[in-house]
Amino acid sequence: MHRTDAELRMLVVEDEPATLELVSKTLAGEKVQLFTVSDAESALERLPELRPRIVLSDLLLPGINGLELLERVLESDAGIDFILMSRESSTEPAIDAIRKGACDYLLKPLDPDRLRNCVRHLVDEAMTRQKTLRLDEDLIDVFQFQGMIGRSPLMLEVFAKIRRIAPHFESVLVTGETGTGKDLVARALHNLSPQPSAPFAVCNCSALVETLLESELFGHVRGAFTGAVENKQGIFEYANGGTVFLDEIGELAMSAQAKLLRVLQNREVQRVGSPTRRTVNVRVIAATNRDLRKMVASGQFREDLFYRLSAIEISVPSLGKRKEDLPLLQRHFLKKYASRYEKAITGITRRAQTRLAAHSWPGNVRELENAISGSCIMATGNVIDLADLPEMFAAPVEAADYEERELVTLEVMEQRYLLKVLDVVGGNKARAAEILGIGRNTIYQMLSRIGESAEVFSSPGSPKTA
Ligand SMILES: Nc1ncnc2c1ncn2[C@@H]1O[C@H](COP(=O)(O)OP(=O)(O)O)[C@@H](O)[C@H]1O
Ligand SMILES: [Mg+2]
Repeated sequence: MHRTDAELRMLVVEDEPATLELVSKTLAGEKVQLFTVSDAESALERLPELRPRIVLSDLLLPGINGLELLERVLESDAGIDFILMSRESSTEPAIDAIRKGACDYLLKPLDPDRLRNCVRHLVDEAMTRQKTLRLDEDLIDVFQFQGMIGRSPLMLEVFAKIRRIAPHFESVLVTGETGTGKDLVARALHNLSPQPSAPFAVCNCSALVETLLESELFGHVRGAFTGAVENKQGIFEYANGGTVFLDEIGELAMSAQAKLLRVLQNREVQRVGSPTRRTVNVRVIAATNRDLRKMVASGQFREDLFYRLSAIEISVPSLGKRKEDLPLLQRHFLKKYASRYEKAITGITRRAQTRLAAHSWPGNVRELENAISGSCIMATGNVIDLADLPEMFAAPVEAADYEERELVTLEVMEQRYLLKVLDVVGGNKARAAEILGIGRNTIYQMLSRIGESAEVFSSPGSPKTA
């Protein structure tokens, strides 16, 4: 059979010559390249070399059976579409196969039309997926601005604001939750400023004790305090002509706030312990994840400094408010970490994507980046699947939607989840025990305790019970 790039490799595992012949006849004109083996062991052996997209396997095979093969194949590559076929017309093996991740279950003798349609559908889907992958890569180029990825209206607005502000600003306040990309915004502002090759000096205001921080910002003279053995310039002098980035400005102590205000107003710095003032020409970018207005109201932040800084403000939206950016960001980080860890990871399975999309991302882009980098480390196959995601994604907890008065103890949460599982499996306690990974006795014990606490049933979203 000749091979073109548009063909997908398909492995057929079957020991009956008649079925094999029917399969190869039926699929002769389709966009698949067929490989055949007659038992599961050979299939597993050839998997790494063939890397098929589709596996079609009989249920009854000599040695390892089709269901076990299904599990082992998906373990090694969750992106493979697995079709099981069998003479067994009872529903149990079919349900079992689908539950274990098979994408279809075909009855023998095979109906050629059904087989052809099923394969066509999978081929179409795979092609579309490849196309969207390529599309995503192109989109990353289009929707990247100074190292930032974003296509949501909110982020496009941020990009536009940076472009407008960068050529002219004297000071800018960048606000947003932690992990939203404030550092990147600050760097972009500097890179697009008229002096991008001048220094960009960063000071994290929360990292240093008060006296050291002042000396870091403004410098000191020898003997100004214990340990000041030499004259030292601060970052305002160092960054002369360029940009000073004051990160976590909300942590700045009151005395340093007063000095900073003087620098901003007069464009002069005074080293700690020195009477002389030096003129500096710097742009200042301040960033914070705190609500400075509230801090002003409660007397923790100088009002005059706040107004000086916040005349121009860029507020970076939290990731939860721009979930449209998730797919591109995922792709971006996947590429970054797959290549960093030298893994041939090409994508994320649909169910893993669904799980990621359902998350509320309180840690914003940084949390997403960590999740993807962790998944790339864990991934054994060439796609990231549910099992590769960090532990916290294992069981979806909807706590983010609750208000504080609705929050419950872990025990109650456990009980509610038990009821939900029982609901789903139609009250079958053996099945529920299997899913939950606990003994049936434990279930009975939990159920008897539920009877004692009315709280389990009292919240919206709690399941009906039998
Ligand atoms: N829009 C974005 N595109 C690509 N990477 C981003 C984006 N926003 C944030 N990041 C990445 O997420 C991490 C956290 O961003 P950072 O700027 O340090 O957040 P913040 O300073 O607001 O806490 C960094 O590794 C950064 O590169
Ligand atoms: Mg930061």
